Amino acid sequence: MKLIVTGATGFVGGEVVRLALQDKSISSVVALTRKAAPVPKHVGPEADTSKLKSIILEDWEHPYPDDVVEQLKGADGCVWTLAVTPTKSKEASFDEVTKICYDYTVNGLKMIASVSNKPFRFIYTSGVTVERDQTKTLPFLQDYRLMRGRVENFVLDFASQHATEVQVSITKPGGIEGPGHPKNEALSSVWAQFGPTPWLHVSELAAAMIDQCLKGVSKDTLWAEDLKKIGSGALKTEDYVPLE
Ligand SMILES: NC(=O)c1ccc[n+]([C@@H]2O[C@H](COP(=O)([O-])OP(=O)(O)OC[C@H]3O[C@@H](n4cnc5c(N)ncnc54)[C@H](OP(=O)(O)O)[C@@H]3O)[C@@H](O)[C@H]2O)c1
Repeated sequence: MKLIVTGATGFVGGEVVRLALQDKSISSVVALTRKAAPVPKHVGPEADTSKLKSIILEDWEHPYPDDVVEQLKGADGCVWTLAVTPTKSKEASFDEVTKICYDYTVNGLKMIASVSNKPFRFIYTSGVTVERDQTKTLPFLQDYRLMRGRVENFVLDFASQHATEVQVSITKPGGIEGPGHPKNEALSSVWAQFGPTPWLHVSELAAAMIDQCLKGVSKDTLWAEDLKKIGSGALKTEDYVPLE
């Protein structure tokens, strides 16, 4: 399988790359980023780092250049983790955050799906607080949460318009722990309002998303409980990235 990973320089995307390099079912890992994606720390001894190709894209809003498209051709799956997280969203204007979260994803899904193998699996990393219902009034981060909800709606609509060719899943984790990202239990009660939301280890989230690309999408929306089950089931103890 050929796998594309966006956001590969980030917390979640970096772990997707690390696990994908160790997975013998994956022959090619294309990191599509704005700056070079390094080989992640803690790759296991069985990892084949030669499978990683780092492709730089400068303009994410318009049709991708031919040389980039050439490298993306024939992908079987894409894990999209590129986004501005709620915490970082305060560092830029809402228009800029919308461009990165919404426009880049819409353009990226169209571009990548148009040159992919079929069926193509697109796994979009979102969050438990993201709201699809645009009529709702939300008590915190309303504009951001609704905007991310519009991304989810676009991804789901795209799949229904390309039913035999494109499968999608939206992952909606709450807390994710990993290296440099300790648990923050204070947020657990916020997430609990959205239903059972166990903390995920970043390896569990990454493994679950890779699993959906490899085996096919089991549900179009995967909540933290689903992700924990799928991810922990796919991992051996030694596959988990150390927390420190
Ligand atoms: N972290 C959590 O606890 C958590 C919890 C629930 C849901 N999520 C969701 O999981 C997803 C990934 O989060 P994360 O924690 O991995 O975020 P992250 O560490 O901030 O990584 C974000 C990635 O997006 C890329 N990116 C941001 N702005 C960009 C731009 N203008 N152009 C190109 N690339 C850009 C970053 O690239 P650069 O390295 O070049 O900046 C980086 O690779 C997000 O959708 C987030 O909402 C995260």
